[in-house]
Amino acid sequence: METIVKNDQRCIWHPFTQMKTAQPPVLIRSAQGAYLYGEKGERYIDGIASWWVNLHGHTHPYIVERIAAQSRELEHVIFADFTHAPAVDLASRLLSLLPGEMSRIFYSDNGSTAVEAALKMAIQYWHNQKIKKTKVVTFEGGYHGDTFGAMSAAGKSLFNQPFWNYLFEVELIPPPTQGNEERCNRRLEEILKGGEVACFLFEPLVLGVGGMRVYSAEALNRLMELCHAYHVLTIADEVMTGFGRTGSLFACHQVSEKPDILCLSKGITGGFLPLGVTACQEKVYQAFFSEDKQKAFLHGHSYTGNPIACASALASLDLLLSSDSAIQRKRIEKAQQAFCKRLKVHSKLKRCESLGTLLVLEYVSDHSSYFSSLRDQLYSFFLERGILLRPLGNVLYVLPPYCLSEEDLQTIYDAITLTLESF
Ligand SMILES: Cc1ncc(COP(=O)(O)O)c(C=O)c1O
Repeated sequence: METIVKNDQRCIWHPFTQMKTAQPPVLIRSAQGAYLYGEKGERYIDGIASWWVNLHGHTHPYIVERIAAQSRELEHVIFADFTHAPAVDLASRLLSLLPGEMSRIFYSDNGSTAVEAALKMAIQYWHNQKIKKTKVVTFEGGYHGDTFGAMSAAGKSLFNQPFWNYLFEVELIPPPTQGNEERCNRRLEEILKGGEVACFLFEPLVLGVGGMRVYSAEALNRLMELCHAYHVLTIADEVMTGFGRTGSLFACHQVSEKPDILCLSKGITGGFLPLGVTACQEKVYQAFFSEDKQKAFLHGHSYTGNPIACASALASLDLLLSSDSAIQRKRIEKAQQAFCKRLKVHSKLKRCESLGTLLVLEYVSDHSSYFSSLRDQLYSFFLERGILLRPLGNVLYVLPPYCLSEEDLQTIYDAITLTLESF
């Protein structure tokens, strides 16, 4: 076990990690349901679904079996000029489930690439029609991934400072969190009046990495209405919110206006394999449909439409749409609501909110940011108690796999309560 960790420290560069000051990584040997197991059998409750990807529990036998069967049949084939059943079946099923009238599915590999494809689609949509609409509107404090387009969409921040000179400009509006709705609406309309906006890209109902900031469906609906009134494309980034996290199958099911383009990843394969999806409405697709080859969407990745990832996603959808999964999600949602209600006025908390299966707590801290020192203290505190929670600075959140039991949820709540007494 020590050899693996030592070798890791010799040859691995971990994501989002200051390698010099980081603790040695936790070695995980196996996982099942909501638990991760270390080499000596030590157990961790996965309270964040391994970066929000896991839906039904680790190594779920149904998905394992479907992946194994697909691997024996067809592992991968180039997706330009070729096709296969798992990609087509998955596209058809997603189109029947997604909010709005989506008509086409474009595959990629992860959340960032799903967003890159969406931005490029929106920009080329106007370019192909020879209409000068080039600006992108996004929320301040939003997050859409780590590729250059996705980074640009988040606006300039401490996250991406070394790259500021290389990011394209976006028009930022404040997120319409409670009390900010009017300010946000006014700012958006001012920008839209300029007539040059190509698209509005947003995380529906909750800004994830930017501090799990929740806002209402009504507020989003007004913003989307405004965009559509000014003939601006709306892009919903449902990379985090998709597949039941916010109480509905997709967050945009809670708003009556529908996005023109929608991005998916993370939970799509149930947490087994990387896959990205950019779905769009027919009008978007039609702007590329032409005799002119230059009007095509000249974008793709080697593993586009990987059959094993698609098989995993199909199996995950079977589980997600079962009544058992709906019951699990409702149970977690109710528990999160009740716990949040109890904590709402705690003096150590600035904020406590829940949305679907998500619980968010913002601790009072001198330094209210991703780089808050409270983060490391909280992270270690939970890990020592066999719970994986990974705060975003002074913001703690619980976003578990849906199979998490009531007892394990209670274990997490007890540990949170202890932090409020001892920090
Ligand atoms: C809303 C949102 N969009 C995009 C991404 C990027 O996804 P990935 O890490 O798979 O590139 C994330 C990742 O956290 C996200 O939360």
